Amino acid sequence: MKKVTLILPFLILGLSFILINCTKDKTTAPIVSNFITADCPDTIKFVKDIMPIISDNCTSCHANGQSPQISDYATVSANAEKILNSFTGSNGLPFMPQGGNAVNDSLIQKFKCWISQGKLNN
Ligand code: HEC
Repeated sequence: MKKVTLILPFLILGLSFILINCTKDKTTAPIVSNFITADCPDTIKFVKDIMPIISDNCTSCHANGQSPQISDYATVSANAEKILNSFTGSNGLPFMPQGGNAVNDSLIQKFKCWISQGKLNN
């Protein structure tokens, strides 16, 4: 009996911890979940691979006052997850390019790889 009274507080503590963790808001983390590096055999280059996607499809609006500003390494990397989700209109982001054709799947794949490789400025 004594053992039970000793263990009880810890049990309650443990249970409430689990409960709190489970009910915690699952944040709207966009992302490249379970993305495996095997899908990205090549190192993606920002200048050669990523910036052209943005220049071809986005800067006509997003380097000219439309928020978010996405016009260079700093602004593209800071908004990378939003940009990725906007390519498909996922996770609450509006589909982009607005009024245009979807960015090609292979380019979206490159963008994902660039993020999973740590958004290199190369
Ligand atoms: C023709 C102009 C235009 C083009 C081109 C365009 N956008 Fe947009 N974008 C907008 C407008 C207008 C909004 C704000 C309205 C809205 O949220 O629907 C917006 C909103 C966004 C947002 C949401 C910002 C937020 O925090 O809610 C993202 C991210 C975005 N654009 C990314 C892109 C990307 C990436 C491209 C290129 C693939 C692109 N846009 C091309 C006009 C454009």
